[in-house]
Amino acid sequence: ELYRASTTAPVNIAVIKYWGKRDPKLNLPTNSSLSVTLSQSDLRTHTTASCSPNNKSGDSLILNGESQDVSGARTQACFRELRALRKELEDSKSDLPKLSTFPLKIVSENNFPTAAGLASSAAGFAALVRAIANLYELPSSPTDLSKIARQGSGSACRSLFGGYVGWEQGSKDDGSDSVAFQVAPASHWPNMRAVILVVSAAKKDVSSTSGMQTTVATSSLFASRASETVPKRMQEMQKAIQDKDFEAFGKISMMDSNSFHATCLDTYPPIFYLNDVSRAAIKIVESINASAGKIIAAYTFDAGPNAVVYYLEENEKDVAGVFKAVLGEKEGWAGERGQAVEANSA
Ligand code: DP6
Repeated sequence: ELYRASTTAPVNIAVIKYWGKRDPKLNLPTNSSLSVTLSQSDLRTHTTASCSPNNKSGDSLILNGESQDVSGARTQACFRELRALRKELEDSKSDLPKLSTFPLKIVSENNFPTAAGLASSAAGFAALVRAIANLYELPSSPTDLSKIARQGSGSACRSLFGGYVGWEQGSKDDGSDSVAFQVAPASHWPNMRAVILVVSAAKKDVSSTSGMQTTVATSSLFASRASETVPKRMQEMQKAIQDKDFEAFGKISMMDSNSFHATCLDTYPPIFYLNDVSRAAIKIVESINASAGKIIAAYTFDAGPNAVVYYLEENEKDVAGVFKAVLGEKEGWAGERGQAVEANSA
């Protein structure tokens, strides 16, 4: 027989960035973070998990049609934790099939091109964990699953929820209090939109995992970011979301992105994720906000040069419209240097 379950998980883009680990094995962070979940119709991973006693070939993972290595510590940690939970169920109910003993077959597809240059590990691990949890019929809550997805990739824990999502850094050594939580559902602030400016589809030259380790080890700015700047912003950002205060949301987002990239520059050797096109995007946002006389657009950058610009639907023309006009008009932007991908938050 064949047992099977499918699920999807959305991409999330942090507005308060996770950067630094206090435990690199469990992906326990040095600061809390907060993200906006992007619409699943635009950006998501779809994953099917299956298992069968007849499978003699061992665990396998196929992403966008290509076979992936499953022997890595992160994937193994997710498999191990989920199997242990299934084993508990099987031990308590003897009539359950022993799925925990069968090899797992995972098949994943992203609905956005890898060429979009978006980190897909967050949606990928979130979907993998939830698909296996469904397959195993685990009674686990999204909070429980966020602890497992975190071990796959830190930011993945935030993709177990929709809307506005926090990740509590926690203080325990075993990570039991380092979990994701929903700040507000998407319906709370439904007119939030994001436009993604794809500056480069190339794989980042310094991975987040190694970049943040070097930052923790060498940056002198890092300590105050983790202990003072971010805790204060986490409070302010949650209030901005509660109040649907876009000016506060936008300002904190931009400042936190800048603070994160400042610690990257303060890392030795320095890490440069932003390039000239990224900086041009920042200037465009600045000029959009200057024309509006208030903050109606907010940029944020992860570990790469691509910009995500948040705005409210009512400002579509003045924000996304301006980006599209610039991309369309400037020779070189649209094709070789950047292309816009639109996404609604959900
Ligand atoms: C800049 O979650 O990719 O996007 O835990 O090592 O897998 P690992 O790192 P990852 O780091 C994401 C860093 C970031 C900020 C964020 O998403 O909060």
